[in-house]
Amino acid sequence: MSPTDRIRSPELLAKVMSAEEAAALIPLGANVGMSGFTGAGYPKAVPQALAERLAACHAAGHTEARIGLWTGASTAPELDGALAKVNGIEKRLPYQSDPTLRKLINNGQVRYIDMHLSHVAQMAWFGFLGHLDVAVVEVAGILPDGRLIPSSSVGNNKTWLDQADKIILEVNELQSAGLEGMHDIYYGTQLPPNRKPIPLTHPSDRIGEPYLRCDPAKVIAVVRTRQSDRNSVFAAPDAVSEQIAAHIIDFLSHEVKQGRLPANLLPLQSGVGNIANAVLAGLNKGPFENMTAYTEVLQDGMLDMVRSGKLSFASATALSLSPQATEDFNQNIDFYRERIVLRPQEISNHPELVRRLGIIAMNAMIEADLYGNVNSTHIMGSSIMNGIGGSGDFARNAYLSFFVTPSTAKDGAISCIVPMVSHVDHTEHDVEIIVTEQGLADLRGLAPTERAKLIVERCAHPSFRPQLQDYLDRAAKSSSGLHTPHLLNEALSWHNRFLETGKM
Ligand code: COA
Repeated sequence: MSPTDRIRSPELLAKVMSAEEAAALIPLGANVGMSGFTGAGYPKAVPQALAERLAACHAAGHTEARIGLWTGASTAPELDGALAKVNGIEKRLPYQSDPTLRKLINNGQVRYIDMHLSHVAQMAWFGFLGHLDVAVVEVAGILPDGRLIPSSSVGNNKTWLDQADKIILEVNELQSAGLEGMHDIYYGTQLPPNRKPIPLTHPSDRIGEPYLRCDPAKVIAVVRTRQSDRNSVFAAPDAVSEQIAAHIIDFLSHEVKQGRLPANLLPLQSGVGNIANAVLAGLNKGPFENMTAYTEVLQDGMLDMVRSGKLSFASATALSLSPQATEDFNQNIDFYRERIVLRPQEISNHPELVRRLGIIAMNAMIEADLYGNVNSTHIMGSSIMNGIGGSGDFARNAYLSFFVTPSTAKDGAISCIVPMVSHVDHTEHDVEIIVTEQGLADLRGLAPTERAKLIVERCAHPSFRPQLQDYLDRAAKSSSGLHTPHLLNEALSWHNRFLETGKM
């Protein structure tokens, strides 16, 4: 492929250099806004070159040489992994899922700011995150006038390109040229008090432009790459995820019969992971037609639904596909471009739009408590797993907010239904429906003690049900009718018994 196929701006073609040369232009200690969302559209060469440079600095005794790393969401071993391995990240936001980086965060070596994904752009505009020095953004191509064809995710790229002093572009020639025209970049957002309603009333509405604007004068380097996105492999649905999926589909059918949902449901949002994929596989085989999605990530299960026609349109900010699904996506990109749009994450996750569209939100969790509070992020209260991601953006504002988990973790040693969650991400006011393989608890319109009864009966594993019921009975007796009965000492020590199993 000739460089001019993808880099059509002569001004930017003149700035092509190696990843090592580009990485050398990033000031040590800089805040760097990189592209990337759920392993899609992240820069693949510059972060690795930067990691090598930082390692060399550390070897020379400059152990303070690190960067602040901001992204859309999780990336991949070539980005988070490479920089974490050399201890090159001082501060990280807003979401990550890399195992090496997770260890550094939990060791206190990296300051991690776990944020609602829809909040990041406005926090950056307001300057609450500090100054953004450099943006490193993967794109699929550059137009003659310097505008950019976005890659397989949009994330916070618009904000990084606008806010950063300097820009490094990675032009990934392996990303399909057919991505051109699939994106919708909205430039109408204003700061208060000048905000106007965002003019989007259907997932398929296009309210912006297909390209990212970019000031060529700020571009200090262009690097050519040819590398595929992270391999996001999903396990085939197991019995537990299939049972969870079946409960959700039964419930949605019931809601349609009751006239509380239209026959084609309302736009779907689905978290990533194996349970989410099982729910989507169930919906793909299920009775609903002509569905839509307004979600954060489009994964294999949703691509299958677009292909089968069950899903007539899907709006997201990123793809997260297995290699097999990527091949299908690239081969049939003209078909998918008519049915998929990728937007900035401030729009894909915008509370105003989630509420207006009446989203059906389905997210996974670590544990839920008897009153419906949910922990999505912390194991045993202190150790962060990934982060809240977009789950809070959707859960609070959705028309229906589901949280799903197997009823137990660690081969049945740990109950995912507990008296009091060890960390709260979603409060009882944001959580409407809890689902485990045991059953589904519809908490809408219920008082705390009614919710607790239902969650124990429907969602707890039978091996933990008697203990949880006993806790509830004693809490009710000791508090003699208080609104949310608890035995605080016992609730707070509940997780210790799991620690004692030695599985943690
Ligand atoms: N207590 C202790 N450990 C638990 C647990 C519990 N109650 N529940 C799960 N775990 C452990 C699992 O054993 C597993 O550990 P391992 O990595 O050592 O095997 C790990 O947590 C992940 O659990 P898993 O069952 O594989 O879940 P998952 O891959 O479906 O992820 C979340 C579940 C909650 C971690 C994940 O969905 C997440 O990060 N969510 C927050 C962000 C989000 O919702 N994003 C989507 C919004 S668009």
